[in-house]
Amino acid sequence: MTIVAKTRLHDRVLSGHGTLMGQCLGAGLPVASSCSGRGACARCAVSVLSGMEALSRPGSHELLVLSRNGYPEDVRLSCQCRVMNRGAQVLITTGYW
Ligand code: FES
Repeated sequence: MTIVAKTRLHDRVLSGHGTLMGQCLGAGLPVASSCSGRGACARCAVSVLSGMEALSRPGSHELLVLSRNGYPEDVRLSCQCRVMNRGAQVLITTGYW
């Protein structure tokens, strides 16, 4: 599994386990949040540039929150998804990295 976070300065390879949000924070990348990862605020949204199929499927609550906030289909709540396919590469970014 390789998760690459695309930032303005360079691409960062993330490692570890857990949610995308947890892996970003573990690598020192800030992730916006006002609900502490409970899937309510939608501020932790990340754009998935590639590898969407390797992520856990969004649950009904995540889909509702994404829809309510008008996010397109290539966006996931980083606090709600994990990489499921360990052989995959996932490329993510945000507007503030
Ligand atoms: S941190 Fe609030 S929805 Fe993910």
